[in-house]
Amino acid sequence: MKLAQYVNGKTQIYGLLGHPIEHTLSPVIHNSIARLVGHDLIYVPFHVYPEHLQQAIQGAYGLHIQGMNVTVPHKQAVIPFLKGIDPMAQKIGAVNTLKRTTDGYVGYNTDAAGLRRSMIQKGIPLKGQTVLILGAGGAARAAAMMAADQKPKQIWISNRTIEKAELLAVDVQKFYSIPVQAVSFNNIYDLLHIDICIQTTPIGMSPNEIKTPISDLSFFKKLDAAVDLIYNPSETIFLKNAKQANCITLNGFGMLFYQAVQAYEIWNELTIPEEEQKKLIEIIQKEYID
Ligand code: ATR
Repeated sequence: MKLAQYVNGKTQIYGLLGHPIEHTLSPVIHNSIARLVGHDLIYVPFHVYPEHLQQAIQGAYGLHIQGMNVTVPHKQAVIPFLKGIDPMAQKIGAVNTLKRTTDGYVGYNTDAAGLRRSMIQKGIPLKGQTVLILGAGGAARAAAMMAADQKPKQIWISNRTIEKAELLAVDVQKFYSIPVQAVSFNNIYDLLHIDICIQTTPIGMSPNEIKTPISDLSFFKKLDAAVDLIYNPSETIFLKNAKQANCITLNGFGMLFYQAVQAYEIWNELTIPEEEQKKLIEIIQKEYID
């Protein structure tokens, strides 16, 4: 392909704000989507230090940047600089996607929708299910609000720092009238019934692949499905153990992929057809993950 087909005078600019930013896969995903659907846009990483976040948002607006993703550590800090926020992002308290409007950027959270789409794709429904979430940080907040939104029977939240799990349980119940309770890491083995466990902590992530948050393997016998938000390695010990106990297993690649698809759809006000999504997953997995 000629360089002018990648970037020319009409090319729209999109990007990712983060600190650090070097290891992101988002430019690969978004530029692959743009090539596949034939859009003249380019997606680039922007290394933004926390003390420059407001300037970065104002500068991006002045430069007519159409949309941005936002990652660690800016997902909450960026909210005061936005013109508006989508209801789900408001509940989660964090945004990862900004869309340009006539008088500023509006914030969305596509992490939650990305996880939901990835679980649907894998055949893991949440309606009527009992869900255990491991962790109570930013990713757990998105998982908990998303799960609550799907009418589950009950949600348990377990975290090393139990107070954070208790706070998240209270927050979820401000918006959803379902039972949500905190449980300490040591007590999760006493829970009698869990259908789905969503693992949101970094335990087991490369380079600490030999670690796992669940030491007692009998835990997996009561589960139908285990979801780990980690995608490197593609199969954590947590997922390996779950698979051995015949659970449906899902890693974090789908969430990463679908949060990008959802952001792209919001920016461009379109739906990427299923067939194209499947092609994209193959392209990205083949070239950059395997
Ligand atoms: P993210 O945005 O990826 O969720 P985060 O907000 O920093 O990142 O949250 C990380 C989560 O993983 C937290 O729930 C954290 O537990 P604490 O609240 O007790 O810090 C959990 N976590 C991180 N490292 C952990 C470890 N070694 N053992 C247990 N939990 C851990």
